[in-house]
Amino acid sequence: MKPILAATLALCASASHAAPAPTDATRLYQAHCAQCHGANLEGAAGPSLVDKQWLHGQPTRANLVKLIAQGVPDKGMPAWSQTLSRAQIDQLAAYIEPGARRPAAAPSQPAPGRDAALSRLTLPKGFTIAVYAEGVESARSLAVSSSGIVYVGSRKAGKVYALVDADRDGVADKVVTIATGLNNPIGVTLLNGALYVAEIGRVIRFDDIDRSYANKPAYKVVKDDLPDDKWHGEKVIKAGPDGKLYIPVGSPCNTCDKEDQAYSKIWRMNPDGSGWEAYAGGIRNTVGFAFHPLTKELWFTDNGPDEMGDNTPSCELNVAPKKGLHFGFPYCHGGVFPDPKYGKAGSCAAYVPPVAKLGPHVAPLGLAFYTGTQFPAQYRNQVFVAEHGSWNRTQKIGYKVVLVTLHGNQEVTTTDFIDGFLQGDDVSGRPVDIAVLADGSMLVSDDHAGRIYRVTYNGK
Ligand code: HEC
Repeated sequence: MKPILAATLALCASASHAAPAPTDATRLYQAHCAQCHGANLEGAAGPSLVDKQWLHGQPTRANLVKLIAQGVPDKGMPAWSQTLSRAQIDQLAAYIEPGARRPAAAPSQPAPGRDAALSRLTLPKGFTIAVYAEGVESARSLAVSSSGIVYVGSRKAGKVYALVDADRDGVADKVVTIATGLNNPIGVTLLNGALYVAEIGRVIRFDDIDRSYANKPAYKVVKDDLPDDKWHGEKVIKAGPDGKLYIPVGSPCNTCDKEDQAYSKIWRMNPDGSGWEAYAGGIRNTVGFAFHPLTKELWFTDNGPDEMGDNTPSCELNVAPKKGLHFGFPYCHGGVFPDPKYGKAGSCAAYVPPVAKLGPHVAPLGLAFYTGTQFPAQYRNQVFVAEHGSWNRTQKIGYKVVLVTLHGNQEVTTTDFIDGFLQGDDVSGRPVDIAVLADGSMLVSDDHAGRIYRVTYNGK
């Protein structure tokens, strides 16, 4: 426990002295552009804005303003004239313009006041939230082994981590980096003692991981021919109760009809990579699966399209009790909204509707059924969903963990469980995945702060 506290204090202290105050343009850029163009404009799913290559003519102020306002919608660059004011677009153009003076921004470094952010988080009465691990850069999916080691995938960091709480005090003693240099290895799952990791284009396997994690273990490639599109290309992975591995292939677009290809489906395969088959279709981009503890059915989130307005369509929580179901994309969104281009009137009735409409642009990612006994009985076998939060809505939404209470496979209510990562327009965390530990406490990963949180119940 001690080294982590010491590290936290040291990082906060240095950050509060060194970091220049972020300007409005920096904030706008980090909130709306960084996820595609990189925290330091270096590029990610979108092109670098600091190299010398420009796809759309000379980067003059006027050209940049026009491009940002109109976007390149069929190439994945949103039009911002709906979401941002003219003045904000001007600020962003000035910020991007070659030769502009920009304070360096690195959002995965701790920012001043982050622990104030922790204290602003709100949960139902009797629950407490604390930091389980710090410095887990771009932390994504979680998988907990039977000996209690927590494995964590990451996005841009390209790393897979093991979190070890040897003294069992509820705080990880160390963050061990198992592997580096991987291609957005967001997905992790455990099967037969091995850790399976899903990168953008392949699945790899680390055998006997609980015994080998500390010694830079070697891996074997299980499958290396997955579609490697960057847009919606990151892949979660989950071992099913049938002993197979479930993997999504997202649609490589905002909306497009590529039904005849591998896209917009959940696939499954045997642990050795054989037997690749489609399990469910009509899914735009799912970034989280869970199997119901009693029915064993596959539950998953799906992220609704952008560019259709602030309030349309809704993101989804779905269940696929059997193979071969179609969930509507790209013809019908959120169960009720026919696509303006691909949907024929009335076509929504032909597809499986969501169990819960989680809200527009909330970006639901990981989910977990509560299987422990520490929380009150009413939480048992109910499902928690991590909402990463919107990036292109006028007023931000999401940035929380919600509880969906179920009756059979129907939603009764959806209520906030962890709220407060969003304060006005300020974001202190973005929940990604959820896991339940053997003691019944709950972990939540946050790729914005590079943290894992732990929720315990101590009310009576
Ligand atoms: C969802 C991902 C995404 C987001 C968010 C995004 N962009 Fe883009 N952007 C792209 C892609 C993809 C392209 C390349 C389009 C093409 O190939 O024509 C691009 C291109 C650009 C270009 C032109 C680059 C060139 O080489 O000519 C600029 C400038 C730009 N974006 C600025 C912004 C700004 C400013 C924001 C935030 C307000 C932003 N982008 C948000 C994906 C994104």
